Amino acid sequence: MNPENLPEFYANVIDSVGDGVIVLNCAGEVTLMNPVAEELAGVSRRISRGQKFSVLFKEETGLLELAEMSSSSGMSISDHENIVLKKNGRLTPLSVTVSPLLLADGVPAGTIILLRDLTNIRDLEEAVRKADRLSALGTLAAGLAHEIKNPLGGIRGAAQLLEMELAEDDELRDCTRVVLKEVQRVNRIVEELLDLSSPRRLNLVGVNLHKILAHIVFLQQQATEGKSITFQRHLDPSIPPILADESRLTQLFLNLIKNAVEAVGDNGVVEITSRIVSEYSMTQKGEGRSRMVAIEVIDDGAGMPQDEIENLFTPFYTTKERGTGLGLAICQKIVAEHRGMIRVDSKVGRGTVFTIMLPLVQ
Ligand SMILES: Nc1ncnc2c1ncn2[C@@H]1O[C@H](COP(=O)(O)OP(=O)(O)O)[C@@H](O)[C@H]1O
Ligand SMILES: [Mg+2]
Repeated sequence: MNPENLPEFYANVIDSVGDGVIVLNCAGEVTLMNPVAEELAGVSRRISRGQKFSVLFKEETGLLELAEMSSSSGMSISDHENIVLKKNGRLTPLSVTVSPLLLADGVPAGTIILLRDLTNIRDLEEAVRKADRLSALGTLAAGLAHEIKNPLGGIRGAAQLLEMELAEDDELRDCTRVVLKEVQRVNRIVEELLDLSSPRRLNLVGVNLHKILAHIVFLQQQATEGKSITFQRHLDPSIPPILADESRLTQLFLNLIKNAVEAVGDNGVVEITSRIVSEYSMTQKGEGRSRMVAIEVIDDGAGMPQDEIENLFTPFYTTKERGTGLGLAICQKIVAEHRGMIRVDSKVGRGTVFTIMLPLVQ
């Protein structure tokens, strides 16, 4: 290495560090900032150079306290838990280390501040917690399902026997009908729980999405005859069969279309569209491009406010008197199993759009 290039070399090293690096002089003014720090602080290094750290970050009391503690004690101090940056209107959890910058002879020359963005780690932790909850739920559900299904079979059998014994016009028939209906409901809850919680191997075959959608729409049209709901389909005929699990995808779209049907009133409209989209993404190896199939289930029902949207995929969240609250949790699981995405757009009083993106693998 040519010694003349050394400063440039060091500058490149610091700029290439994946964490934010900020260096202050003894007066607490910024002398150096790498691109990650610029991004985190939401200010360019040109503007920040020479500015007081305490002014640049005046809102971030936790960060300032840490810097203060380090400079008054002359020690390196870290906080990996409690610092959240509130720049640019978003919250960024940070792991921060503040160290004194010492010259070779031990004379203090300033402060080095290292900022690590913990957003992805926090998201991962949340995903793990969720998976943990679901797997605990799975063990419980499998046990419960077994315990509940047998007595349920007994109740159903007895109610059917009773029904056969009763005369056609016997008022007690109302009671047996209620028993049978409720047994069916408990059975459904147990099956949906099992569905949500048990690990499953996908049975991948070439699936014709439009055939599935047509079949579901046909069944729903028959089931909702009295409500006069209009089903519209805008499907792209060029979409080829995709490699997926047919019965899981049927369940996915059935849940979504059923929700749409339940959301619209008489004379409501449920629309289903499909198209091919190209997703561009930057990967470490450069630009990547993958093709996805996007299917939308659109309804002109009541729509949802934002706080409701946030709860949609939580198991047992339901606003329906006879809902299980498991439908969308199952949808989310099926989409994840297929490495796809699910998105919701909803406006109160206008309606709701659920968008499913599935990788176009053949
Ligand atoms: N298309 C929709 N329009 C309005 N609200 C919806 C729609 N889809 C789902 N929801 C809301 O999400 C909740 C959860 O849905 P889901 O998980 O399918 O359970 P369930 O249908 O048994 O209530 C519903 O109770 C409803 O409040
Ligand atoms: Mg539902």
